[in-house]
Amino acid sequence: MTGRDLWAAVDDYANGHLIGEDPVLDTVLAASEHAGLLGGPISEGQGRMLELLVRLSGAKRVLEIGTLGGYSTIWLARGLSSDGHVVTLELDAHHADVARANIANAGLSDRIEVLVGAALSSMEQLVAERGEPFDLIFIDADKQNYPGYLEWALKLSRVGTVLVADNVVRAGRILDPDATDPRLGEGGLDGLRRFYELLGAEPSVTATVIQTVDRKGHDGFVLALVTGELPP
Ligand code: SAH
Ligand code: DHB
Ligand code: MG
Repeated sequence: MTGRDLWAAVDDYANGHLIGEDPVLDTVLAASEHAGLLGGPISEGQGRMLELLVRLSGAKRVLEIGTLGGYSTIWLARGLSSDGHVVTLELDAHHADVARANIANAGLSDRIEVLVGAALSSMEQLVAERGEPFDLIFIDADKQNYPGYLEWALKLSRVGTVLVADNVVRAGRILDPDATDPRLGEGGLDGLRRFYELLGAEPSVTATVIQTVDRKGHDGFVLALVTGELPP
């Protein structure tokens, strides 16, 4: 066994020991697939990692950009203490409906708010509302807008906010200016590269990339912490 088959088998082995059966999340994936929501969700292990990051940081206010069927949303919410909540942003009203049903089925409707609309507009609105900053922000919507999501995420952050951004490796296609990534659409890889540039040039953020291999192939995510004061 090599490559993706091997990565999937190791995933099954490790998750079999460390996560086990999860009928609620199995139902989320089945319902999402049934409703025609394809591609997209993070792996099981990455879900557990998000749960752990919420717990490790003691996050009470979590923001997600890109809901799809709510799979990652539910993992994030599982890490919350009883007074925490997740706000998740989704462009597609059908995706949002499926997510709300999945979230209700997981018993988490009172902890998760799904906001429908272009995430850049929703983030602008959240800034205008001048609420408390978010403690953890997970970026996972259209890669073309990752640069904008980073800028707005920083406006919604404080020193100590954790940032996570999915899909920043794309089997190494990130290195090749001539590569295309049909599943990300036109300009997806360019958006990711601009995101790296902005993140690297941002003095208030300390960041790393963790490469991953699993049944979805070779990809990776950014893990970052706001470590310095942000401009007002
Ligand atoms: N975080 C999810 C997967 C998200 S897939 C999980 O791991 O389970 C990306 C989602 O972003 C899709 O549902 C897509 O409709 C949404 N999206 C795409 N462009 C968007 C935009 N401009 N604003 C908000 N959501 C967007
Ligand atoms: C793919 C995976 C993702 O997590 C995502 O956000 C977008 C696309 C993919 O496998 O193509
Ligand atoms: Mg993703």
